[in-house]
Amino acid sequence: MACDRSDQERAYALLDLGDEIVHARALQIAAELGIADLLASGPRSSEDLAERTDSDPGALHRMMRLLASRGLFHETGPGVFELTETGGPLRSDHPASVRSVLALAGTVAPLVLGGVRHSLSTGEATFPVVAGEHIYDYMAHHPEHGRLFDEAMRELTRVAAPAVLDAYDFAGVSRIVDVGGGSGALLSAVLHREPGASGVVFDTPGVADSARERIRNEGLTDRCSVVGGDFFREVPPGGDLYVLKWVLHNWPDERATAILRSCRRAMGEDAKLLLIESVLPSDGAPHPGKAMDLSMLVLSGGRERTEEQFAELLAGADLELRRVVPTSSPHSLVEAVPR
Ligand SMILES: C[S@@+](CC[C@H](N)C(=O)[O-])C[C@H]1O[C@@H](n2cnc3c(N)ncnc32)[C@H](O)[C@@H]1O
Repeated sequence: MACDRSDQERAYALLDLGDEIVHARALQIAAELGIADLLASGPRSSEDLAERTDSDPGALHRMMRLLASRGLFHETGPGVFELTETGGPLRSDHPASVRSVLALAGTVAPLVLGGVRHSLSTGEATFPVVAGEHIYDYMAHHPEHGRLFDEAMRELTRVAAPAVLDAYDFAGVSRIVDVGGGSGALLSAVLHREPGASGVVFDTPGVADSARERIRNEGLTDRCSVVGGDFFREVPPGGDLYVLKWVLHNWPDERATAILRSCRRAMGEDAKLLLIESVLPSDGAPHPGKAMDLSMLVLSGGRERTEEQFAELLAGADLELRRVVPTSSPHSLVEAVPR
C-alpha cells in the first residue's frame, strides 16, 4: 500500500516530535555553557563563543544555528549570533531567568530519558536505582548539584509567584508556614505583599542554612524564621496557613500522605492548607504537568495528580479539599481545611 500525502504528513509530524529531544538537549547545553550571558553585551561569533566555552567552533556554530531556528538567537552575519527577546530568559540576570532550571534539566536529563524504560517496566523511580539514593539525599551529598537545584527552584518560584499572588488573597493571614519552602522565594514574595504577616520557611537543615541567608538579604529576618527539619516527622506548629508548593508531586501517595499528616498535626482547627501544584485535567487535554508527571515517576516515584486524586490524598490526612483556584501559570492552588 502506497503512503499517501496525509500518511506522509503524519509520519513527518512524529519524526519532528522525536527530534524535540535534540532541540531540548541543545537548549540545556546552551544554558549550562552560559551562552546567553556571553551575548548580554552584544553579538559574538561562534569562534569567540567556542573559545570562551571550551567548545569546538564548528560544532558550536551548528548548535547555535539549531537554536536560532527556534528564535532564541539571531544570526546577524555569517557565524555571528545575538540573543533575541525570546531567548532573554536564558540570561542569568533576566527577571524571568530559567537558566538554572534548564541547566539542571541537563544534568538529570540523561537519567530521566534513560530511565523511562526501567520505570515503565517496574513502576518505580529509576534515579535511586542509578544514583543509589533518593534524589534529595543525592542533592544533600552533592552540594554542587544541590545548589543548582535550589537555584532552579528559586527561578521557577520567581516566575510563578506573581500568578500565585494574583490568584490567592493572603490578606488576613498572620503566620504562614512554607513546608519544603526551599530558599524562601515564595514566602518572601508573600511577606513583601503583606507587611502585617509573618512566616516560617521549613526545609531540610542544609537547604534551611542557605534560605537563612536569602531571607536576611530580603531584609525579612524580623518577620520570617527559618527552621530545618524533616517533614515526615513534624513541621512547625502555630501557622494559620500551611503552604506546600511543588512538594507533594515529589512523592508517591503513601509518602505524600505522611507529609500531609505532619501538617495536619501542626494545624489548629481554623488553619488552612494551600497546595501549589499542577492539577491534571481528568480528560485527554494537553497540560505541561503530563510531562512533569513522567519525570517525577523516573526521578522520585512521585506524580502529578487530578483534583479527585488530591481530594482523596487530603482525606487520608483528615483534611478536606475546599476549592481549586487556577492561576495564570500551569499551577493551581488547592485549598484544604481540617475535616
Ligand atoms: C521541589 S522543591 C520545592 C521547593 C519550594 N517549595 C519551591 O517551590 O521553590 C521540594 C523541597 O522539599 C524539600 N524537602 C525534601 N525532603 C524534605 C524533608 N524530608 N523535610 C523537609 N523538606 C524536604 C527539598 O529540600 C526542596 O526544597
